[in-house]
Amino acid sequence: MEKILKNNQKLEIRKARVEDAVDLNEMLKTIILETEHFGLEPEEFHITDEEQTHTIGMYSQAPNAILLVAVLDGKIVGNLSFRAGSLKKFAHTGEFGVQVLKDYWNMGIGKELLNYLVNWGKENEHIQKISLRVRTDNTNAIHVYKKLGFEEEGILRNEMMCNGVLYDLMYMGLLV
Ligand SMILES: CC(C)(COP(=O)(O)OP(=O)(O)OC[C@H]1O[C@@H](n2cnc3c(N)ncnc32)[C@H](O)[C@@H]1OP(=O)(O)O)[C@@H](O)C(=O)NCCC(=O)NCCS
Repeated sequence: MEKILKNNQKLEIRKARVEDAVDLNEMLKTIILETEHFGLEPEEFHITDEEQTHTIGMYSQAPNAILLVAVLDGKIVGNLSFRAGSLKKFAHTGEFGVQVLKDYWNMGIGKELLNYLVNWGKENEHIQKISLRVRTDNTNAIHVYKKLGFEEEGILRNEMMCNGVLYDLMYMGLLV
């Protein structure tokens, strides 16, 4: 899917391909250093290019999971992964994570990744709900989620610790 951004640049949102593994890993290693909102600490990122290739392959085969990349001028600048539960009772619902490289924030890339996910979820016969957890002080992310129709479902108190500081997470969901 191609989209024209606020600054008129052409953005491509598409499913990740196995040949994206190296670039995707590079992007993830960068974003971990740029934000506290990514789940892993830098020293916890051990995904080899081979493992990433395997992961992308698994996502592309799964009926209720999706791994997206946002590509600008041939460079991966964002990604989103969503996976529904593996047990039957939870196979209709899952959580996603989304990241955009800091240099590219506020251009509309996060919104387009989410748009793609929501449309995919609406068309997917297995998926009925898309959820996420976000730090309550991550105001720009919450702004994007609300814009896409996600609603607050509850607060998980002291759920995340970053550099010794405890943070609440907001649980949000969208029924598709
Ligand atoms: C959250 C994230 C994916 C958003 O990506 P993005 O490409 O910047 O998102 P968009 O450009 O589509 O939208 C950003 C919106 O936030 C708004 N915004 C920026 N700063 C804001 C702030 N402090 N408070 C509220 N809204 C803010 C922008 O105005 C824009 O909204 P608009 O289009 O209505 O004007 C990106 O910031 C990111 O990767 N952050 C680090 C990782 C992360 O937090 N991931 C989510 C974890 S749950």
